[in-house]
Amino acid sequence: MMPGASDALVLFGASGDLARRMLYPALQKMVARSRLDVPVIGVARSGWSDEQLRAHVRDSLAAHGGIDEAAWRKLAGLLRSVDGDYRDPATYERLRLALGSARRPLHYLAIPPGMFPLVIDGLAKTGCARHARVVAEKPFGRDLASAQALNDTLRRVFSENAIFRIDHYLGKETVLNLAYFRFANSILEPIWNRNYINSVQITMAEQFGIGSRGKLYEELGAVRDVVQNHMLQVLGMLAMEPPVGEGSAAQRDEKAKVFRAIRPLAPGDLVRGQYAGYREERDVDPQSRIETYAALRLHIDSWRWEGVPFLIRAGKCLAATATEVLVELRRPPQKVFAEARPARSNHVRFRLGPDRIAIGLGVRTKKPGPALVGEDVELYVCDEKQDGMSAYERLIGEAMQGDTTQFARSDAVEAAWRIFDPVLREDTPLYEYAPGSWGPAEADAIAAGSGGWRAPNLDEVCPPPQADQVRTTGSSRAADRTA
Ligand code: BG6
Repeated sequence: MMPGASDALVLFGASGDLARRMLYPALQKMVARSRLDVPVIGVARSGWSDEQLRAHVRDSLAAHGGIDEAAWRKLAGLLRSVDGDYRDPATYERLRLALGSARRPLHYLAIPPGMFPLVIDGLAKTGCARHARVVAEKPFGRDLASAQALNDTLRRVFSENAIFRIDHYLGKETVLNLAYFRFANSILEPIWNRNYINSVQITMAEQFGIGSRGKLYEELGAVRDVVQNHMLQVLGMLAMEPPVGEGSAAQRDEKAKVFRAIRPLAPGDLVRGQYAGYREERDVDPQSRIETYAALRLHIDSWRWEGVPFLIRAGKCLAATATEVLVELRRPPQKVFAEARPARSNHVRFRLGPDRIAIGLGVRTKKPGPALVGEDVELYVCDEKQDGMSAYERLIGEAMQGDTTQFARSDAVEAAWRIFDPVLREDTPLYEYAPGSWGPAEADAIAAGSGGWRAPNLDEVCPPPQADQVRTTGSSRAADRTA
């Protein structure tokens, strides 16, 4: 960890969509919690004065989460605008002046990766990069070669411990809890391996389409947008070995090892889909072959996970909005009770959001009555999403403190791209699916050997906790949720 907290925050892309939707609300929360009291300098080719930047930030807050008047007044006092083109060296001179006595700025690059080299160069030439930290937004490259080139560009000017490759899933309470729950309890460890686990499914379903992001989405598709990063980070939390010791390197080492152990994808392990109507969306090519859905089967070549398929599916315009992990355990070795229908295997379920978080244990219990017959029941603990710390608030705070633990390291990012590179180079088949469905029927083949896809649990009742109660616990009779 580099010594000393950052003493200024510089936001490249101050007029952009990410800043508006995510970063300004996070900054307001940081101020409210007294976690931010250094100058915030917004850089953009906007022609904005300080006052105009403040008006823009206030508008953004009003549209995304609301204005906390006390925090806003303080945040407004921290905001400065630097107007200029990223190609113009004078922009960086103005930034140098605006930084004043700040010695350890954090530069947040909320701009397209294609502009990183230009900005890094401008920062280096004007001394703005000295003792500075840099946050690079996802997507970090678009394949292995471009990620390597980007890493080279950053490392020419910044040391690895000053580079923060951000993936907001790593700042989510629920994703951090995956590793916490695994390693803070002893119940899972004995069964957390190929001897007891049949398969692991991760579903990231979104009911909405691409909205106004057509231009960006056409450059990405589901694999680059959410699978290579968010979904793989979730997988990393589930599959990594217990980190040895504390500190940033321990966890990042284990995550990188898992990514390295994942076999590069073969074309048959990926099914791509596109929702009907995508090609008519704004800024989308009418012939587009970009996927809005991906289902894939990954294999981890390690002692712990040999033979256990990790199934991931993610898509837009699906039947529900829910991100969920389902770890399916092996069936009991013998059928002790005669039943018409064989018991479903047990499972451990993690609901990662967006509206609630839950951990469920799927078991089979005896139905009350004279016969020895059972039913599937799930015991769960569930929290309604509360006004906790947003992922961006957490991660910006950690980057300003120089804590790299929850940021992707260069070797892990490259290992992650290595998995997807073979399929990204090919034009694999693309299947249309109906909006509101669970994706193309062809994706069933990916999970066929593991009992099929299981839909997220949309039925659990999760009432807001009472004042004296922190958690809602309960059980539900599980309907047979296949999808
Ligand atoms: C973003 C993707 O990184 O994550 C979006 O670009 C996606 O396409 C979003 O909708 C999902 O994030 P969350 O936090 O709402 O699950």
